[in-house]
Amino acid sequence: MLEFLTQSVKHFRDTGSIWPSSPLLARAMTKSLEGVSGSRRVLEVGPGTGPLTKGVLRRLRAGDHFDIVEINDVFCKLLEKELLQKFRTRHPQVAVNLHNAPIEDAALRGGYDLIVCGLPFNNFPPKLVRSIFRQLLALLSDSGELVYFEYAGVRAMKAPIAGTAGRAQLKRIDAIGKSLRRHHAGSTELILGNFPPAVTIRLKGGVTSKNAKSRVKATRTK
Ligand SMILES: C[S@@+](CC[C@H](N)C(=O)[O-])C[C@H]1O[C@@H](n2cnc3c(N)ncnc32)[C@H](O)[C@@H]1O
Repeated sequence: MLEFLTQSVKHFRDTGSIWPSSPLLARAMTKSLEGVSGSRRVLEVGPGTGPLTKGVLRRLRAGDHFDIVEINDVFCKLLEKELLQKFRTRHPQVAVNLHNAPIEDAALRGGYDLIVCGLPFNNFPPKLVRSIFRQLLALLSDSGELVYFEYAGVRAMKAPIAGTAGRAQLKRIDAIGKSLRRHHAGSTELILGNFPPAVTIRLKGGVTSKNAKSRVKATRTK
């Protein structure tokens, strides 16, 4: 908790929060894994101190493959020490790889059944938001699901203090989210048992990366 606060103050744009996610949010974001038979491929982006990682680890079984991508090396060291080393010892038949890199540069094979994303998109420039979604959708299997979250009403709360350029940026991020939900059978769920309350957003795979690319791009012209 203390490390999360320290890193949040040091890197507020990347962290975007002062409080780690709750177990309830973790459960909501990982529940679709239960419906996937055989060995599963899972990717988590932006684990921080690992509240959502714990939710994934709890659901993994022998033969599964779990990639985790985190930009912050302090969080990576903490994750290895507190969670991953112990998990690998207890579950040697599950492959768990931590990549200390920005997601934009991570070398990943794709074909994921579930991508859990904790990135604070409302802090990022719209161009980066678009390119990360394009990348993540291309990494998803056809029947896979990409789940991310944002704090309920986050853009409405930020808008009064964001300035003119900031408000325009938030509007563009909102438009990107709406377009993604339209094109990827998006669904949302309000999780009150999180501080602050959060909304999960689920997007379905099943479009080619080329389609995903042009669809995300299309929001740009609006
Ligand atoms: C809002 S915190 C979420 C932490 C945790 N998943 C949770 O729910 O409490 C965002 C995390 O994303 C990481 N992050 C930000 N930009 C990133 C990027 N481009 N690639 C990978 N990780 C990134 C930050 O370092 C931070 O750990």
